[in-house]
Amino acid sequence: MPIRKHSRTDFVKTVKQKLIGQDQSLEALNRCIEIYHAGLSPEGRPAGVFLLLGPTGTGKTHTVEVLAEALHGSSRNLLRIDCAEFQMEHEVAKLIGAPPGYLGHRETHALLNQARINAAASQQCDLSIILFDEIEKAAPSLTRLLLGVLDRASLRLGDNSPVNFERCLIFLTSNLGARQMTRELEGAFGLAPKQLADSPETLHRLKTQAVQAMKRHFSPEFVNRIDSVFTYRPLTPEMFGQILDLQMQAVLRRIRQKLGDRCYNLRMTPQFRRTLLERGTSVEYGARELRRVIQRYVLEPVAAATARGQIPPGALVTLHCSRGGTRLTVEPDRGDPPALAA
Ligand SMILES: Nc1ncnc2c1ncn2[C@@H]1O[C@H](COP(=O)(O)OP(=O)(O)OP(=O)(O)O)[C@@H](O)[C@H]1O
Ligand SMILES: [Mg+2]
Repeated sequence: MPIRKHSRTDFVKTVKQKLIGQDQSLEALNRCIEIYHAGLSPEGRPAGVFLLLGPTGTGKTHTVEVLAEALHGSSRNLLRIDCAEFQMEHEVAKLIGAPPGYLGHRETHALLNQARINAAASQQCDLSIILFDEIEKAAPSLTRLLLGVLDRASLRLGDNSPVNFERCLIFLTSNLGARQMTRELEGAFGLAPKQLADSPETLHRLKTQAVQAMKRHFSPEFVNRIDSVFTYRPLTPEMFGQILDLQMQAVLRRIRQKLGDRCYNLRMTPQFRRTLLERGTSVEYGARELRRVIQRYVLEPVAAATARGQIPPGALVTLHCSRGGTRLTVEPDRGDPPALAA
C-alpha cells in the first residue's frame, strides 16, 4: 500500500507488516521523511544517510526494498549499487564514467547519473532511494567518492556534469562486525535461543561490536557523515516463523494472480512447516536460504503437479514431508475460503 501523503501511522504499519523484528530504524526513517516532506531538510546534504549493520539474512537489504515499496509502490523503485561489483579501483570509474579524451569515454555511461537517480523517484514521492549494498566490499576510492556525496550532496561525473543528491535517502549496508556477533552468540550458547537474542544486554553487546568494527574499517570523516547507524539483531525462531508465513502468503498470492479461475489453496502440515524452517534458517545465514527452500520444496513440486493437470480448480493441496522431498495430497473443492493454514 503506497503512501500518497506521508503519514507516520501508515508508514510504520506498512513497513512493519513486511519487516519482521527489526523496528529499530523505523522511527528515525519516519522522522527523516517527515522533515523532508515539511521542506525542512538541510540544503546541500542528502535528505538522510543511514548505515545498516548486522549479520547476513537479517533484513538489511530487505528494509530498503520495503521502504521503496512504502514510498513508491514498488520494491524495485530504488537505485541499487552492488558494491561487490566495485572491488577494484578501475571498476569504480564505471560509476562516474570516463572523462572526455580518455579511452572509452563515448562507450562508458556513468551508472550514478542524475537521470537514474530521478527515475528512482515516483509520482507519489520525489525522494529517491539509493542503496550502496555491502559497502565494505567496495574499493577505497568508492568510499572517497562517497565522502563528497554524503557531505555536499553533489558529485561531478567524468564528463563534468553535476549530480545532485539532495532529494535522496542514501542507505549503506554492511556485514562489518557480523562474524564477531555470530561468534559471540554461538560461542557462549551453541545457538541463539529466543531469550538470548532477545535480552537487552545481548543486543547492546552485539551493537557495540558492530559499531567498533565499523569504526575500524571507515575513516572518522566517513563515519561522521552518517546520520544514523542501525544494528540488525539476530532473528529468533518466532521471527523466522513469521518470515516463512509472509513468504508463503506471497506464494499463494502469486498462484491466485497467475492462475485466475484455476487457482487452488495450499496448506502445510506442522511437520512440513518445521522442516522448511530447519532447512531455510540458521544463525549463520539468517532467513537468506528460506526463499531457495520454498522454491525447492513448495514451488517446484506444486508447479509440476499443476503442469500435469493434477490439481483441479479450488482444490485444497496439503504439503507433507516425504523422504528428501515433498508429497502433495489434493482434496477437491469444498468451497474453503482462500487461506494458507499450517
Ligand atoms: N527481518 C526480516 N523480515 C522479513 N523478511 C526478512 C527479514 N530478514 C530477512 N528476510 C528475508 O530474507 C531475505 C534475505 O534478507 P536480506 O537480503 O535483507 O539480508 P541482509 O541482512 O541484507 O543480508 P546480507 O548481509 O547477506 O546482505 C530477504 O529477501 C527476505 O525475504
Ligand atoms: Mg544485503
